[in-house]
Order: sequence, then structure tokens, then C-alpha cells
Amino acid sequence: MITQYKLALIGFGNVGQGLAKILSDKYSFLKDKFGVDIRIVAVCDLYKGSLADPKGLDPAMLLNHIELHGDLKSFGEINTDWDAKETITKSGADILVELAYTDLKTGEPALSHVKQAMNNGMHISMTNKGPVALHFPELKRIATKNKVQMGIEGTVMSGTPSLNLACEMLLPAGITKIQGILNGTTNYILGEMEAGADYEDALKQAQELGYAEANPAGDVEGNDAAAKVVILGNLLMDLSLSLSDVDCMGINKLTADDIKQATAHNKHWKLIGTVEITQTGYLASVKPEMLTNEHPLAAISGATNAITYSTELMGDITLIGPGAGRLETGYAIIEDILTIHKNSH
Ligand code: HSE
Repeated sequence: MITQYKLALIGFGNVGQGLAKILSDKYSFLKDKFGVDIRIVAVCDLYKGSLADPKGLDPAMLLNHIELHGDLKSFGEINTDWDAKETITKSGADILVELAYTDLKTGEPALSHVKQAMNNGMHISMTNKGPVALHFPELKRIATKNKVQMGIEGTVMSGTPSLNLACEMLLPAGITKIQGILNGTTNYILGEMEAGADYEDALKQAQELGYAEANPAGDVEGNDAAAKVVILGNLLMDLSLSLSDVDCMGINKLTADDIKQATAHNKHWKLIGTVEITQTGYLASVKPEMLTNEHPLAAISGATNAITYSTELMGDITLIGPGAGRLETGYAIIEDILTIHKNSH
């Protein structure tokens, strides 16, 4: 049996385009193998324009149009003048894919979008860390009240299944500590600087490759990694962390000389996020650490992320995989949809 899922996308930047590429290449595979007929029925992007078609928009056509025109504004009659709120109410979608820019101070505008959608009976898939890091308990309550599901796999380690895998298979083993490289942009920059690149050039490359946040200050100052520490601690350790509970320092104070010194001593600077249960409560931090070559996280390069989950029953389990990128984060939405599908049947 095939189940149809109609998606409304809020935001059509890197992640939305990554999702469109996956659907354009894998639509039939996903339908035949997993029984999901996934269609994008509406796209609403503040800058690129809005369009909708209840039968489904051809994802390849969306990508071609962006390539040719840089926006989605000249399609003719399928173009709408809907804003995000109207897209939620008028598109007939059953899953809201929230990809608006991340705001780690208020979570807006994504927070309002996901609340409105869940109160309208829509499931959610979001890669946007703002609402999850700031308002997870409230969002869970709204999801439960409306009997809808909230997919958040892409908020940590992009499509690498750091949350689903841990929730389903590692929680029973008793997670006591989580430590990892949680930000792809900074790991990429640090690697490029080790190879001799200038900080600004490395950051520019990370932006071009689609790793960095719309405002990359969130990456280099450590706030993006801190948001992921909060998400991991709250989801996997039942903590009630806020961003202010994370002792946070970014990589922006590291100099080219610091990097050179470390390399000369066979060491590597890495931005490490940690959340740990202690006898008196918890410890949560993000800070640059100089690791020796022998450290398991020292060899993690480029935009790759890694998390070591320390557990009571299984000891340490390390997951290594992509932490950012268009296709990699777009794939997280496919995982969310497959999870929604599995839980609904
Ligand atoms: N800017 C983030 C990173 C994207 O570089 O890891 C993925 O959350």
C-alpha cells in the first residue's frame, strides 16, 4: 500500500534544494521500497517567492528554475502571494517542512510556523534548531495534544541519525555522557587553517558549500554547537537545559598561530560539545580543545561530525557522519517522513 505525503516547505535555501534533489532522484525508489509517495505541494520562501500545486510540484523543475533565475517568481499561474501562515492553512499539505533561518534568541519565525501547523493537524519536519533548542517541551505538548508527530533529526548531525538511533537503541543502555564535534562549519574551517588557509577564506568556502548558518556568527561563536548540546541533553538525558546553561566558547578567538603551534606538536584544535550527568546535576559546555593524534575525535575532518555516547551498559559508542550540507540535511527530512510513516502504521 502506498501512502501519499504532501509537503509544504517554508524556506527554499540549501536544505530545501537538497530535499528537492533527493526527491527528484529517489521519488520512485522511496515509493516502491518504502510505500511513501512524497510530493512537494507548496514552497514559500521570503526572498525567492511562493508557489503551490495540490497535485505536486516537480522538484527538478524547481531546481532548474532556481539555477536559471535565482528565484521561484516567474512560474505564472502556480505562483501564489501566500506568506508562511497562508501556506500552512491553504496548501492542503499534511507535513510542514520548516526550513526558515535559525534564530537562537527567539526561535522565530519558525516557532510560530510549527505551532500553527501542529494546531492545524499537520506533522512537522524541521532542521531548524531554534524552536527545538528553545521550546522543545512546549512543542512536544502541542504535538501530543494534536496527535501529530514532530521530526527533528536534521537539527543535530544533519542526516546522520544521531537522534533517532540514540532514542530507539541507546536510551535503554543508560546514556551518561555525550561528547562530540557538533558543528561542521568550524570543523571545516579548523581543518583548512591547519592546511594553511586563511580564516576568512575558509569561512567563505564553508558558506559556499552550504555548511554555514545564514549568519555564520552562530557557527564560529559556538552557539550552533551549544544549541545541539541543549537538544541532545533534553532529548536523550531528560534534562531541561537552556542555551544559557551551556558554558560556551567558539573558535573565533583561535589565531593562525595557535593552529600552527598545535600542528607542530601533532595536535589538533577541535570545537567540542559536551553534556554529562554528574553527581550534583549536569555539565554542559562547548569549547575548543587541543586533542592529541590518539584522541578518537582528532581525525574527524571537514564538515564531518562525530558523537561519542557513553552508556552504562555498552560503554562508549561513537557515531561518525556528515554534520552539514545540502543533500545531507535534506536527507534528514526523508528520515523524518519515514519515521512519521512508520509510527502511523
Ligand atoms: N551550520 C551548521 C554546521 C549546519 O555547520 O554544522 C548544520 O547544523
